[in-house]
Amino acid sequence: MGIIEEINKLKREKNAIILAHNYQKSTVQDIADFVGDSLKLAQEATRADSEVIVFCGVTFMAETAKILNPEKKILIPDIARCSMAQLLSPNEVIEAKKEYPGAEIVLYINTLAESKAEADCMCTSANATEIVNSMNSDLILFGPDKNLADYVRGGTKKTIISIPEYGLCPTHHQISEEDVIKVRNTYPDAKLVVHPECILEVQRLADHIASTDGMIDFCKKSESKEFIIGTENGILHRLRKEIPTKKFHTASSTTICPDMKMITPEKIKRSLEKEKFEIIVPKQVAKRAKRAIERMLELS
Ligand code: 13P
Ligand code: SF4
Repeated sequence: MGIIEEINKLKREKNAIILAHNYQKSTVQDIADFVGDSLKLAQEATRADSEVIVFCGVTFMAETAKILNPEKKILIPDIARCSMAQLLSPNEVIEAKKEYPGAEIVLYINTLAESKAEADCMCTSANATEIVNSMNSDLILFGPDKNLADYVRGGTKKTIISIPEYGLCPTHHQISEEDVIKVRNTYPDAKLVVHPECILEVQRLADHIASTDGMIDFCKKSESKEFIIGTENGILHRLRKEIPTKKFHTASSTTICPDMKMITPEKIKRSLEKEKFEIIVPKQVAKRAKRAIERMLELS
């Protein structure tokens, strides 16, 4: 039996499904029951009627699935931690709240569960501006991604204060203006589509800025036949598979998230066999974090 058959057999035995983020290795995406961005994966986790979810992504995504579905067993095939999520501790959020007592806290879903517990509302790259605009206060503490905060500032009249001051995703932050201009000169007819985790200078050059699923939707609907993609390169697999009639180029061949690439089909098989690594979120943290995640889902 090949590894795919073995995984399918284990899935049936355990009543499990596999969710995967758009940045996962192509071999992992091809095994998954559902592939999507952070928002769609959180929504899909609540829709699933399986007892077990194997979450192929980073820990904050699997924790979100656990917080929304405490009765399900959530497994992650390897402890892959998003580097950006480590940049904002719950204490920093508490301190910022003290400093700006009238402000509301909107945190990017790429955060620790303990930090989510201190937020008024969560957001993803698919809904960040919409969420900020639907908050009551005109003063918003927003974190941890400074680049996403810059993107939101362009779509709101509210004052956004970044916590921490310079939080960023190392994978997206390294896509430079020079990289993009060079690739644009090579493919002058291509539309430039980037993720809002890119630096503001790159965002300003883009024809479209969106979450990973938003980027795929844009490329599907656009009349253009050629695109330059400014995000983690795992997304190219879905783009080429779902839109085979169009051409996709990367803005930078080094845009690879080492955390997202930790998961392999072998680790998925081991995860199902040994029921490892199980995601556990302390009850008190989960209860408070759930309020902020559910508020986001209601507003989305
Ligand atoms: P999306 O929600 O747009 O898929 O982004 C998740 C992420 O980690 C981007 O680096
Ligand atoms: Fe985190 Fe960046 Fe990797 Fe996304 S690409 S999971 S933000 S480190």
